[in-house]
Amino acid sequence: MQNDEAGVADWVAVADESDLIEGEVIAAVAGGRELALYLIEGEVHATDNKCTHGDARLSEGFVMDHCIECPLHQGQFDVRTGEPLCAPVTEPIRVWPAKCEQGRVWVDLA
Ligand code: FES
Repeated sequence: MQNDEAGVADWVAVADESDLIEGEVIAAVAGGRELALYLIEGEVHATDNKCTHGDARLSEGFVMDHCIECPLHQGQFDVRTGEPLCAPVTEPIRVWPAKCEQGRVWVDLA
């Protein structure tokens, strides 16, 4: 744990930076949570991996611009905010601060 301006952060290394592929999503696990990691326009994003609509993993879905499309019913979320973008999803997914440093992908699970 470390202090930062926003309070106490809990940055955890969840993947190697080299695992990320521009415009794609991968799965990771940290602190018992299933995460989905995205590299979009050179920026890393992290969200929960489980869709809020049903039993599907977003890491098996499709990235389009800043959206992830669920593989099961094609609901879409904005990976920057977690907001649902179209039916049938109505509940947002949780998003986590993420960064790349020292060749690793870090997610703040605080
Ligand atoms: S399970 Fe994801 S849209 Fe239905």
